[in-house]
Amino acid sequence: MQNKLGNIAWVTGASEGIGCALIKQLAAAGWTVAATSRSGEKLSELAEQETSGAIHPFPGDITVTNKMEMLVAAIEKELGTIDLAILNAGTHIPITGKTFSVESVRELVETNLMGTVNCLNPVLKRFIQRRSGTIAVVSSLAGYRGLPTSAGYGATKAALINMCEALKPELDQFGVSLHLINPGFVKTPLTNKNTFPMPFLISADRAAREILTGLKRPKFEITFPFGFSVIMKFIRIIPDRLFFVFSRKLISK
Ligand SMILES: NC(=O)c1ccc[n+]([C@@H]2O[C@H](COP(=O)([O-])OP(=O)(O)OC[C@H]3O[C@@H](n4cnc5c(N)ncnc54)[C@H](OP(=O)(O)O)[C@@H]3O)[C@@H](O)[C@H]2O)c1
Repeated sequence: MQNKLGNIAWVTGASEGIGCALIKQLAAAGWTVAATSRSGEKLSELAEQETSGAIHPFPGDITVTNKMEMLVAAIEKELGTIDLAILNAGTHIPITGKTFSVESVRELVETNLMGTVNCLNPVLKRFIQRRSGTIAVVSSLAGYRGLPTSAGYGATKAALINMCEALKPELDQFGVSLHLINPGFVKTPLTNKNTFPMPFLISADRAAREILTGLKRPKFEITFPFGFSVIMKFIRIIPDRLFFVFSRKLISK
C-alpha cells in the first residue's frame, strides 16, 4: 500500500507503550516498520504477532551514538529508504528537590535528549540530502513549564521542543517535514510510576492514533488530548507568580 507519507517507517521505543501502539497501527495501515528498543526479545515477539510480516526488529540502545548510525544504515540496506522516523523512545525518573541527583538527571538527558539526538543525526543527514522525509520527535506537554517531580524529565522535553523549533524553518526549505509531538498523560509503563492522579489520562492506542492522524496534516506541533493541551498552553503563558501558586498546590497534595 502506498501511503501519503511513504512506505518505510522507523519507530524508536517500539517495545512498550506509545511506540508499541504506533508500530501496530502503522503495520495495519500498510507500512513496513523498523522497530527499535533495547529489548530485542520483546520486538521479536511483536514482529511474530504481526502476521503480515510488516514489523522488523532492529534492536539497539539509543544512547549509543555509533549504534544508531549503524542501525539506520542497516534499516535502509534491508528495508529501503526511511520515509518516516518517529523518535519516541524515552524514560522518566521522578526528581524532586530532595531526590535530586546528578546520576538521575544524566540518565534522563542521555536517553530523552541525547538519545533522540543520536537518532535524529543519521536521519537528518539522509533526509536533507534526499530533500524528502518526515520526522516526528516525541517530547511532552511537561516540557512547557517546570512541573513538580519533573525537574529532570521536563528539562529534557523542553530541550527537545526548543531544538525542533530551531530546526523546523530550515528543514522546510529542504523539503523535510518536522513534527513535534507533545502528549499529555498516556497510560503506559512510563506513567505507571506516577503516584498522583493523572488528569485526562488516555490509552496508548488513542495516543498513537492522535499521532498518526496529526502526521497527515501540515501542522508542526501535535498535542493531545485536546482539553489538557488547552490547559497546558494557558499555563505556559501565565506569569511566574501565578504559575507558582498553581505548582505549589500540586506539591502540597
Ligand atoms: N506516557 C505518557 O504519559 C507520556 C506523555 C508525554 C510524553 N511521553 C513520551 O512518549 C515517549 C514514549 O513513552 P511511553 O509512555 O510509551 O514510555 P514506555 O512505555 O516506558 O516505553 C518506552 C520505550 O522506550 C524504549 N527505550 C527506553 N530507553 C531506551 C533506550 N536507551 N534505547 C532504546 N529504547 C529505549 C523502551 O524499550 P526498552 O526498555 O526495551 O529499551 C520502550 O519501548 C517517551 O519519549 C515519553 O517521554 C509519554
